[in-house]
Amino acid sequence: MKLLSFSVYGYNENMLVNNKYVVIEGIDGAGKTTQKKLLIDYLRSNNQVVCDVKEPGGTLLGEKIRQIIKDSKIVRSPESDFELFNICRRELAQQIISQELTLGHWVICDRNWFSSVAYQGFGQGLLVESIISQTKKALVDLFLPDISIIIDLPVDMAFNRLKKRHDDISNDNFESKGLDFYQKVRDGYLWLIKNYSIYKIDGQQSIKTINQSIIKLIQN
Ligand code: ADP
Ligand code: TYD
Repeated sequence: MKLLSFSVYGYNENMLVNNKYVVIEGIDGAGKTTQKKLLIDYLRSNNQVVCDVKEPGGTLLGEKIRQIIKDSKIVRSPESDFELFNICRRELAQQIISQELTLGHWVICDRNWFSSVAYQGFGQGLLVESIISQTKKALVDLFLPDISIIIDLPVDMAFNRLKKRHDDISNDNFESKGLDFYQKVRDGYLWLIKNYSIYKIDGQQSIKTINQSIIKLIQN
């Protein structure tokens, strides 16, 4: 159990948090959506209150910005991309995640700033240190989740899964970037695993095995 102080957001009280902030990460197609749903089902079937969130989005501003981010016709630089993600992230942390944790609820989030390091840093060439320092300013005490999980999968396998999932991959701004881009993104995730306290789960395992590993992690 740890004590978080959120005075920077205008709260005066300290908040007790029971390691209930979980982030699931990985390249597109790694299995995040599948595993997040299974984890939430498990927690809810055990009478836990769960807040289900996904980046970018989850607030009114975040959802508006998500529409811009997903529109490949809107030309912008990697720097602007990062700033758009960072705005979404700050609002989600301030408006939703901090309140939910204060209430003692679980927060299960699909992606966080690890995606910015992997996609905008390793994928699009932004300076990783700069992404991290701007993220720290935006998130303050919510910079590090209680449990961070990266589902790791070779890029070709993730692509094959995505091809089955989407009718037209090329419609999406990110999913049209190709194998080389995704290889860099995966390298970014592997770098994060080496440098931060993040659990790596082999995404080649069965859906059930991965789910069992995640449940073990949150029970510890
Ligand atoms: P993400 O949210 O990371 O993009 P999804 O959870 O949507 O990934 O999974 C992408 C596709 O791969 C889906 O069709 C899903 O059913 C399938 N899938 C997910 N996990 C596995 C797994 N461990 N083994 C095989 N297929 C999987
Ligand atoms: P989304 O449809 O949410 O993808 P997925 O279901 O795979 O999570 O689109 C989000 C896209 O944005 C995804 O390709 C990853 C990318 N992204 C970044 O590039 N940087 C970020 O900081 C975040 C949160 C996402």
